[in-house]
Amino acid sequence: MKWIITYLTSSIGKKQIMGCTGAFLALFIFGHMCGNFQLLNFDQASAQASYNAYTEFLTGFNPLHFPVKMIYLIELVLVGAFALHIFLAVKLKIENKKARGGIEYEVNARKGKKTFATFTMIWSGLFILGFLVQHLMMLKFGEHYLYVNAEGEIVRDMWLTTIQMFANPGWAAFYVVSMFVIGLHLFHAISSAFQTMGIAHQKWTPIIDIAGIAYSVIVALGFGITAVAAFYLANQPGTQALIEKSRSLQPQYEQMKLEKAAKKASFVIPSVGEVQVSFNAEI
Ligand code: HEM
Repeated sequence: MKWIITYLTSSIGKKQIMGCTGAFLALFIFGHMCGNFQLLNFDQASAQASYNAYTEFLTGFNPLHFPVKMIYLIELVLVGAFALHIFLAVKLKIENKKARGGIEYEVNARKGKKTFATFTMIWSGLFILGFLVQHLMMLKFGEHYLYVNAEGEIVRDMWLTTIQMFANPGWAAFYVVSMFVIGLHLFHAISSAFQTMGIAHQKWTPIIDIAGIAYSVIVALGFGITAVAAFYLANQPGTQALIEKSRSLQPQYEQMKLEKAAKKASFVIPSVGEVQVSFNAEI
């Protein structure tokens, strides 16, 4: 037990945990980028249907029939990984500074030089944290547009929420800049993580470095292009009609929610057998 505490409180232990949580987050980012490529579809109706089917699938995915939806478990792991990664980054930064008597001095041990990405790691990381707060506030917890899915159900139109945010040129520009910062962060993080794990090899290290650069460029460009496409889509003439249609669905949606709540509240009392107690949505 003592060795775990020694490991967790050691500098290398903290760096390795940062590497592992960072790798997990980098994989999430890649998957997220691929899902968002559906925003590159310029046919509004089919883009709306496919993007919303994708977000509905993600939020409803529960193959093992857990009592709690899978998405909540995934979100919990994501929040934990982000929190641990950021906490350790700030802690290591403060400890490094203290150890050096407050003098900023950080070298890339392998290359023996300080790159722009190395120097800005903590700042690009804190910028990403700010970006994530904006991102979740505007999208996940943002405007609730509605649309009728293939099954005739009224569901949240995540596609419209997303493209509507990008309708604002300020937000679209902010995203393009943010993707550059995320690319910069990943650029140093990947080679640094391999180094921390002790993978330093004459033949493999240059290949890892190139793969790290390629990965960061792909992620930054992939998300950046998506942001520009969403800006273009949002400013198409058809978008206003979709917003109006969404508003007209609101009363029906409220009614549907009441009916669903009433269905959930109805239950059978086993000892009484056939008797079913239910609430009527119309009351
Ligand atoms: C053009 C760029 C991006 C677009 C269009 C986009 C779109 C979205 C949308 C629509 C959601 C809400 C999904 C839902 O609630 O159903 C979301 C959630 C999220 N996004 Fe992004 N995203 C982008 C870039 C990023 C980047 C770069 C990161 C990470 C640094 C990121 C991290 C997240 C996280 C952590 C969530 C919450 C996931 C969850 O709760 O399940 N996104 N994004």
